[in-house]
Amino acid sequence: MKQKVTRIGVLSSGGDSPGMNAAIRAVVRTGIYHGLEVFGIMRGFSGMVEDEIVKMESRSVANIIQRGGTILKTARCKEFFEYEGRKKAYENLKKRGIDGLVVIGGDGSFRGAQTFSNEFDIPCIGLPGTIDKDIAGTDFTIGFDTAVNTAVEAIDKIRDTADAHDRLFVIEVMGRDAGYIALHSGIATGAENILIPEKKTDIINIVKSLAEKEKRKKLVNLIVVAEGEEDFGGAQEVANVIKEKLPNQEVRVCILGHIQRGGSPTCFDRLIASRMGFHAVESLIEGRHNVFVGIVNNKMHYIPLNEAVKKKQRISEEWMRIVKILST
Ligand code: F6P
Repeated sequence: MKQKVTRIGVLSSGGDSPGMNAAIRAVVRTGIYHGLEVFGIMRGFSGMVEDEIVKMESRSVANIIQRGGTILKTARCKEFFEYEGRKKAYENLKKRGIDGLVVIGGDGSFRGAQTFSNEFDIPCIGLPGTIDKDIAGTDFTIGFDTAVNTAVEAIDKIRDTADAHDRLFVIEVMGRDAGYIALHSGIATGAENILIPEKKTDIINIVKSLAEKEKRKKLVNLIVVAEGEEDFGGAQEVANVIKEKLPNQEVRVCILGHIQRGGSPTCFDRLIASRMGFHAVESLIEGRHNVFVGIVNNKMHYIPLNEAVKKKQRISEEWMRIVKILST
């Protein structure tokens, strides 16, 4: 089905991620370049339901490429789960003649967009925006690079103080369902152990190796734990067990939290956001619908929205061996 789009809406939904503004800018400016009218929808799907929709001009997106957060704001909208809410949203789009939608968010947002599009025949294009990098079908998501670099910068700082005091730090990074931030930041900062939801936490072995390190006076140790670590439930719980088993160790916990979601996007995130935003609009013009834009091996890929699923880290044994050997 090829439908000519004339007016498009753009929204950000779910957890924000650095680079969303760069993506909005790309959508607005590519749309205007092609003669489309572009509307910004505030607070994700809530703005569609509640009719918070603003006309965007080229200047509306000036001076935002370098800013974290999202100028359109974001939300998780309960009303959009109900047919009545989606119908209200459709009517608000229709009265402005909006006939295409770009949704920046994670797999949940994509599923909402798919349901909406099936019911009301408005083509939707998704852009993967999440710091967790947990969407199958794309090598990158907008915001991951910035978040992981923020984590690395923070962990490097923690290492300084850990080293000064000969302490063991258990550091919790974000990632409710996936361990990408933990795995990448942990390797990049030389962490002794990395605990992620996709892999069982072998606390016996961790304690054994810490005890062995204690004997040879290696007292500075960093353990990076993903927020979604399942066996213990997070950094504090892991630290409690270590303290109990190794009472001589000075253990501290640091939870990095939402600091990882903010900040100016890296060059890499600005680039992929710009490329993806550009291709989202061209896709709508070319008649693509209900796909999200991914990048695989540096090429654009278009994956059906209903195939957007959370991607779990396939644990590469090679990576885990590297962690172990390099941290001895
Ligand atoms: O955006 C993804 C994420 O940052 C997860 O890593 C985290 O668990 C979640 O969002 C936190 O969401 P909220 O800010 O709504 O508590």
